Amino acid sequence: MSSADRNLRAVNPPANWKPDSWRSRTALQMPTYPDAAALESALAELRQLPPLVTSWEIFALKQQLAEAQEGKRFLLQGGDCAESFSDCEAGTITNRLKVLLQMSLVLVHGLRQPVVRVGRFAGQYAKPRSADTETRGDTTLPSYRGDVVNRPEFTAEARVPDPRLMIKAHARSAMTMNFVRALVDGGFADLHHPEYWNLSWMKLSSRSSEYQRMVESIGDAVRFMETLSGSEVHNLNRIDFYTSHEALLLHYEESLTREVPRQWGWFNLSTHFPWIGMRTAATDGAHVEYLRGVRNPIAIKVGPSVQPDQLLRLIDVLNPDDEPGRLTFIHRMGAKQIAEKLPPLLEAVRRDGRRVLWVCDPMHGNTESTSNGYKTRRFDNILGEVEQSFDLHAAAGTRLGGVHLELTGEDVTECTGGARELTDADLERCYRSTVDPRLNYEQSLEIALAIVRKQGRAATTPAAR
Ligand code: PEP
Ligand code: CO
Repeated sequence: MSSADRNLRAVNPPANWKPDSWRSRTALQMPTYPDAAALESALAELRQLPPLVTSWEIFALKQQLAEAQEGKRFLLQGGDCAESFSDCEAGTITNRLKVLLQMSLVLVHGLRQPVVRVGRFAGQYAKPRSADTETRGDTTLPSYRGDVVNRPEFTAEARVPDPRLMIKAHARSAMTMNFVRALVDGGFADLHHPEYWNLSWMKLSSRSSEYQRMVESIGDAVRFMETLSGSEVHNLNRIDFYTSHEALLLHYEESLTREVPRQWGWFNLSTHFPWIGMRTAATDGAHVEYLRGVRNPIAIKVGPSVQPDQLLRLIDVLNPDDEPGRLTFIHRMGAKQIAEKLPPLLEAVRRDGRRVLWVCDPMHGNTESTSNGYKTRRFDNILGEVEQSFDLHAAAGTRLGGVHLELTGEDVTECTGGARELTDADLERCYRSTVDPRLNYEQSLEIALAIVRKQGRAATTPAAR
């Protein structure tokens, strides 16, 4: 038993569960592979390939999430809506990791709490779609379901689900993971020093002087620590970084579900922290059946149509032993609906008494289409949903323990607003996402600063790590 595992309460192995028991349930959002033999051969190959993460990393993350449930940590989870194979490239990976680490430093310092850092990457390749097919003119083809399933071009050939893409997704995930591990281990020296960050946008913000002071105080704290210790801060603290993706394509997830020496049970070793999307969260569905049996910490998206008793049943199924760190609920209601929809859920779970980590995804309830045909999200709605979440939790006697964001480290124009006040007309300048619009580098940092502004305690003593 690892030391992290010893700290967690004993749990019982799940009854009547096998890595493939999901196959007896209704599995929504799955592609139809035309060639069963080709599918079986790809899955056989995947089952032989090495895993991407280890069980001890999974237990360490579960321990951190247990601490977040106790109010001792804050979760920052972020990355692309959908990774693409072509974005598996050094610059994109570096910039995404950089913005996440800079945001985490802002949050650590401002919230006076350690942050649990989780990327939406190294496997975020499968997407749920609202329709199985897409029609353009007279042609109807299968919908694009992410690079692990098929390709986005609107041709019959590109849209046929190809099981070999699972092998490619595994390889791209491994390359991403490998590079992220190297970057994190290498120290990423300038990250801890805000004087090297690109903050030119800050002077455009109406909160400019406040943000300036916050950033200066991070710099002061870092220099203070370095002076005290006589060592550079990136040599003092090894940073933990974990990965997550939506566990949607269950063939892929099953193939990377493994047993490990000296532990009971099964682990999804394709990622540390799989989650179930809103469209596949039925209590008796295949996705809940699959995730109920793995020992990873798991998350589930909670949309505006979920009823309190449904949430309690999900806890019964996914965390019957009330294991610390096991279950996270990510609510994604939309800025307009959250004040009405969230409180009954918070109240039901609080009264029930079992532990969950509450996290706010302020992206997926705030998607809209512009008159010039772009899918976008407005910065004020995103921030507004986060700010309302803090208040609604406080009023309910629960705690908002993290945020889940779609973001990139690139200078894209996909969400409007923010300090630069991007407009609908700006969207065409650099719109790159194939699925949902992401916060760009500046908007992401601005969200982190705004969260601290909303929630932070006086930031006067050094807490940087
Ligand atoms: C997502 O996180 O990309 C997603 C599809 O979210 P949801 O399941 O909440 O709609
Ligand atoms: Co999305």
